[in-house]
Amino acid sequence: MSVRIRIWDLPTRLFHWLLAAAVLGSAITSETGPIDWHARFGYAVLALLGFRVLWGFAGGWWSRFSSFIYSPASVWRHLQGRSPAAHLAGHSPLAALSVFALLLVLGLQVGSGLFSDDEILFMGPLASRASSQTVAWMTDYHKDIGQWLLLGLVVLHIAAVLYHLLVRRDNLISAMVSGDKLLPEAEALPASADGIRQRLLAGVLMAVCVGLVAWLVLSAP
Ligand code: HEM
Ligand code: HEM
Repeated sequence: MSVRIRIWDLPTRLFHWLLAAAVLGSAITSETGPIDWHARFGYAVLALLGFRVLWGFAGGWWSRFSSFIYSPASVWRHLQGRSPAAHLAGHSPLAALSVFALLLVLGLQVGSGLFSDDEILFMGPLASRASSQTVAWMTDYHKDIGQWLLLGLVVLHIAAVLYHLLVRRDNLISAMVSGDKLLPEAEALPASADGIRQRLLAGVLMAVCVGLVAWLVLSAP
């Protein structure tokens, strides 16, 4: 017998799809322009990342970092196909590594963007506060290593999800849409809280993150 369990609360799902849209928007406009829109999509990524860090402490059970920080032994067990059900309900040990890597590399991409200068039309809001050497270094990272690292991780991420879908017959995408997974009843796994109070809290935290990013951008000299 299987039971339906809420794994991804609504705020995590909205975060995920808005993040994917904002990263795509930023990537497309980095090639086509206009640069103001490139930066706006980037600011959206920044606010979403800020929210996700807070949600890693305040969110539903399976969105909390504490539920997907694994020991090296757990990663090893996972690679051998011996993970317990509790390690497969939310982010698996391998998925968790890729989630942390994605969040870190996205943070570096947006962070370096804030210090970048195209020397024609646009300067990131922190560029005028840094030395010209720092700005040159950040712009180089942003346009070169950073963009390729991010592209590599996103391609790997989507390939892993498709591998699960097509080879392992395990549809991870539907849980990122509906929030729920069908899991063996015997395991008695906790569900993520996803009621009105959680959603209101998420709204407040997101508003705080948007406010902080707006302040950062508008207070630039
Ligand atoms: C630029 C594009 C994307 C980025 C930056 C991205 C980023 C992320 C991040 C950060 C997570 C962790 C979610 C969390 O715990 O907050 C995640 C999970 C997930 N993403 Fe994406 N994503 C992208 C595109 C996609 C696409 C196109 C799909 C579907 C084809 C997808 C499917 C999933 C799934 C199924 C999970 C959950 C994985 C699991 O069960 O462990 N993502 N993604
Ligand atoms: C996830 C978010 C972001 C991604 C994926 C991204 C990606 C890129 C890429 C690929 C380029 C190189 C374009 C080229 O070589 O023609 C670029 C350029 C640039 N980005 Fe971003 N970016 C992001 C966020 C930001 C943010 C938040 C800012 C600043 C507010 C920013 C400011 C710039 C600037 C000023 C350039 C032009 C640098 C130059 O041409 O010298 N970016 N970005």
